Amino acid sequence: MILLGPPGVGKGTQGVLLADVHGMSRIVTGDLLRSARAEGTPLGLEAQRYMDAGELVPDGVMNALVKECLESVPDGRGVVFDGFPRTDVQATALQGTLEELGRAIDHVIVLEAENDVLVRRIAGRRSCPECGCVFNVYSNSAEQEGLCDRDQSPLVHRADDEPETVRRRLEIYHELTEPLIAFYEQSDVSVSYVPGDQAVEDAQSAIRSVILLMTPHDPSEDA
Ligand code: AP5
Repeated sequence: MILLGPPGVGKGTQGVLLADVHGMSRIVTGDLLRSARAEGTPLGLEAQRYMDAGELVPDGVMNALVKECLESVPDGRGVVFDGFPRTDVQATALQGTLEELGRAIDHVIVLEAENDVLVRRIAGRRSCPECGCVFNVYSNSAEQEGLCDRDQSPLVHRADDEPETVRRRLEIYHELTEPLIAFYEQSDVSVSYVPGDQAVEDAQSAIRSVILLMTPHDPSEDA
């Protein structure tokens, strides 16, 4: 399943909840890059200058990274993609990798919200660098200020969450990533739209309803 949507719309927030409920793996390219950066690997050092400027890391790097992750997911285990694909080159590469692995995208969930909602959320975001949980000083604060509810790690405000960088990330989303909605609409993948500007729990219920609706149902299982 792909969670698609602009920066700050709630892909990470919803992805964590979905993966927990459905026992799925998450492939979160932003988190993978931030970990590589924290570890000072060559990938992390290369990625840093793009991320700090709000630009996309080159497709070749991202495609190789995601392929490696996908190959380590156990057969039959579902995957939530968050932050990938982001360009038509990445979308095509993902299809190729999935075909090689005998797998396919079942759902694309498009989360939507206006820019002013996104900018406020990003300003208030605090993230756990360990488990990827996200909080917000305005709407979803941690139980203990500054500490992750799940593993008590100190929360951080991301370097690329400064207003000027956020503006660039939004521009890039509209220019390069939003067109992927049409790409998937024209394929045989189910594409559903969920408002991202509702409460976290309501967005989560809406996503789960969409998944239930779009998942083929075997009536013999009801007996
Ligand atoms: P990435 O980390 O993927 O950032 P993003 O896509 O810009 O998305 P965000 O993480 O900002 O937002 P989100 O939608 O996950 O929202 P969240 O749940 O956190 O990418 C960062 C950078 O890495 C890119 O700019 C690029 O340089 C590079 N990169 C990554 N992938 C790449 C790729 N494939 N190719 C090339 N480069 C790549 O929520 C935001 C805040 O709002 C939180 O505080 C949360 O608590 C709050 N919130 C969430 N939902 C709600 C709600 N319903 N109500 C109120 N508050 C809410």
